Amino acid sequence: MKFLTKNIRQLLGSGHPTLDTVAKYYTQSEGKYVRPMLVLLMSRATSQTPKLDRGLAPSAVDCSLTNPAVLADENPSAPQNPTPTLTSINHDTAYSAQDSDILPSQRRLAEITELIHTASLLHDDVIDHSQARRSAPSANIEFGNKMAVLAGDFLLGRASVALARLRDPEVTELLATVIANLVEGEFMQLQNTARDEKNPAWTEDTVSYYLQKTYLKSASLISKSCRAAAILGNSTPEVVEAAYLYGKNLGLAFQLVDDMLDYTISGEELGKPAGADLELGLATAPLLFAWKDNRSLGKLVGRKFSGDGDVQRAREIVAESTGLEQTRALAQEYVDKAIQAISGFPESDAKNGLMEMCTKVMKRRK
Ligand code: FPP
Ligand code: MG
Ligand code: MG
Repeated sequence: MKFLTKNIRQLLGSGHPTLDTVAKYYTQSEGKYVRPMLVLLMSRATSQTPKLDRGLAPSAVDCSLTNPAVLADENPSAPQNPTPTLTSINHDTAYSAQDSDILPSQRRLAEITELIHTASLLHDDVIDHSQARRSAPSANIEFGNKMAVLAGDFLLGRASVALARLRDPEVTELLATVIANLVEGEFMQLQNTARDEKNPAWTEDTVSYYLQKTYLKSASLISKSCRAAAILGNSTPEVVEAAYLYGKNLGLAFQLVDDMLDYTISGEELGKPAGADLELGLATAPLLFAWKDNRSLGKLVGRKFSGDGDVQRAREIVAESTGLEQTRALAQEYVDKAIQAISGFPESDAKNGLMEMCTKVMKRRK
């Protein structure tokens, strides 16, 4: 984790000074770094499990970013701020932790997951008209929508280069799918229910639609990067599947808690506006559970809480319901499944760390 931000900033170097600034903007503030932390812990926790010969010799895993072919089309006429950064990563020294049980490719994967996550935040803040992120003005406010969107695209480009350099087609496919999943989840979220109706009825599908959206938007990155960490470590299919199930269940719990905090925590403590979901027209788990018992919410859901007093009314109904308790209980169920998934891993500090992440997700307040 010590090298993470520095390496990410190196991956994001651009010869264009403004792009350089915007692209690195969210690396200045302290993120939670949940995704890279999980990748590193999973890499360690699976390092002592049985190994496969996947026919990819370690020498085929090129983690450097020194391929001249990729640098060839970069603008050589930017003397003020050239793009020195792609050539300057020295993994031999940067990753020289002695006897490390984390492979360089797994460390690079951790950085790639944070890049994809940050790209999605840059775009998300434009879509959500966000004012603040990580206790500072969001990038769209600081630099405008156009630069924020383009910077997000740039991050995805650099993440893709780094991914290609891992020379592992299965891992490339997984992380490319994550990017598509993030967009699919965001599209599902544009509607609160599977069918766009004025006065939708509550059905069991209401919750399954929300959970599928939640998987795509939040759990896909966590689950597929845990899977990718195990694959890079040449783990067996059973271990790879266990890593995926851990990430999937933890990711679902993570987003359920996020949706709960939007109702329960002040904006100051969150470092971003609280109560934003209803204002954005979003019906998340606490409201969906409240809706099951109070069908008058259907109309408000249908018009995305856009009527006079809708947001306040919805908040009151959620507060009087068991929606928040049910959301927490469901998050706990997923956390229990995540713990179960890795219970067969050999005992290690990293396995304990993965378990601790589960407790932290349930206790977190930001
Ligand atoms: C935060 O959710 C946003 C996400 C988890 C994913 C957003 C995905 C996109 C915008 C699709 C484009 C993806 C890429 C990779 C460019 P939130 O708005 O509920 O959380 P917040 O309160 O932190 O803003
Ligand atoms: Mg948002
Ligand atoms: Mg959003």
